[in-house]
Amino acid sequence: MAKISPGESFATAMKAYEDGRSDSARRLAKKLVEAHPKFGGGHYLLGLLALDYNQSQVALHHLDKAVELSAEQPAPRLVAATALQRLGRPAEAALHMRAILALYPDHAEAHALLGTYLLDLEQNREAVDHFRQALVAHPDWSAVLNNLGLALGHLGEKQEAVEAAREAVRIAPDHVGFRVNLAIALDKAGLKEEGVAEAQAAVQADPDNEDAWLALGMIHQRRNRLEPAMEAFAHAPDLPSARWSMAECLRKLGRMDEAAKHYQACLELDHEDHHGARLGLAVVTGQAGPDRAPEAYVRHLFDDFAEDFDRCLVEGLDYRGPALIGAALATILGDRKDLDIMDLGCGTGLAGPVLKPYSKVLDGLDLSPAMLAKARERALYDHLIEGYVLAATGCYDVAVAADVLVYIGELSAVMTKMSQILRPGGLFAFTVELADEGCDWRLGDRSRYSHSQSYIRRVTAEAGFELDILEDVSTRSEAGQAVPGLLAVAKNKEQIHG
Ligand SMILES: C[S@@+](CC[C@H](N)C(=O)[O-])C[C@H]1O[C@@H](n2cnc3c(N)ncnc32)[C@H](O)[C@@H]1O
Repeated sequence: MAKISPGESFATAMKAYEDGRSDSARRLAKKLVEAHPKFGGGHYLLGLLALDYNQSQVALHHLDKAVELSAEQPAPRLVAATALQRLGRPAEAALHMRAILALYPDHAEAHALLGTYLLDLEQNREAVDHFRQALVAHPDWSAVLNNLGLALGHLGEKQEAVEAAREAVRIAPDHVGFRVNLAIALDKAGLKEEGVAEAQAAVQADPDNEDAWLALGMIHQRRNRLEPAMEAFAHAPDLPSARWSMAECLRKLGRMDEAAKHYQACLELDHEDHHGARLGLAVVTGQAGPDRAPEAYVRHLFDDFAEDFDRCLVEGLDYRGPALIGAALATILGDRKDLDIMDLGCGTGLAGPVLKPYSKVLDGLDLSPAMLAKARERALYDHLIEGYVLAATGCYDVAVAADVLVYIGELSAVMTKMSQILRPGGLFAFTVELADEGCDWRLGDRSRYSHSQSYIRRVTAEAGFELDILEDVSTRSEAGQAVPGLLAVAKNKEQIHG
């Protein structure tokens, strides 16, 4: 009898899999692995089966083997990437796609998937390029058009985002998710009535779709139509965003007790608190609130804001934090050019141009990957690090925190950290918003913390700093009014090294 080749055994096993006979496919795949340990097909199929059963870790174990044994085959890499994505590891998933594209530069599926992983990683510009390359081969690929619309939207290319989203809906008119994304794109592009109409079409097509109700509510809310917004949010009780938005509407209407219930529900659905419901809850109940803003909230806030940050802050709010810090440092640093400088909460790097002339090394640290991506584009920083202020390490002559401590109430841990990373004589230059005397810090209506002057004096002294400068300033205006604040430059014990 002729010997059956591994390829033939694999074809039989795959046929069983494709026919939905999973048990048989698994048995055949295991036999294949035992009989031909150097043939990747058995592992590939076991990976596929595990993924179907939502066992991503098991799937990855088999798929890694399959990739090792058949490194030039796209299929195991495509499935391995899906497993990695499900495990929340999009950067590694992207590496598999890059490996495929290195061998097959026109591989449309690899382009499409790489785009989605980059979308997750907030690398929107590169994501757009890959979606466009996937569309060269398949111009009617609605899922790719939908994702292209999302990436363009994140980049602030509003008209192009609408065009891509419209195309996705034209090709797949029954896909409610695509309609929801189109509604959001239309709203962002200022086509508000069309946005409402599209969101209404989505909720009519699928009245159980909470994302569609959320989109409709948010479009109304942005237009300050609170009643219809709340009516829509009420249809999405399982979505933290809808609960939070409902709470915000109620708070605006002065219905604080009801708002508190929705903030509470939001927190129960999202323990990490991406919306800052803890902060809202404190404000509507009059309780003290947490001593710092939740990390997930700050990250989410600035990831969302990154694209428009520079325009909104500098043009809209007349933001001058970096300029004020720059002027204060100039009086102390003179013509020094050899300093190691850390820009804490560097955001998009607005302070980079001010700090660069004094620096030998200029580092930035921020919680928000999207803000860091913007800072990277400036090409001014030597290292950009994603992390919380308290995770800062290294040894610096100057540390700067412009409009960052407004997200932290209790500052003693930050001051201690600064005294550890600054050399003796090193400077910590920062701004805060000003709270009345009689409290150390206060959580305000806009979910930002303010600090009293006496607290800043005390908390810096307790960490071993001497205040070189403590001035009344205003770093920004709100509704045409200058927001009162403080600018401080605190010296870490002895002389700056030289
Ligand atoms: C208002 S922006 C200011 C950005 C920059 N310093 C400037 O002056 O343009 C605040 C930045 O601080 C970051 N941030 C807030 N709290 C932080 C924390 N605890 N750790 C790290 N970054 C933080 C935010 O992600 C955001 O990018």
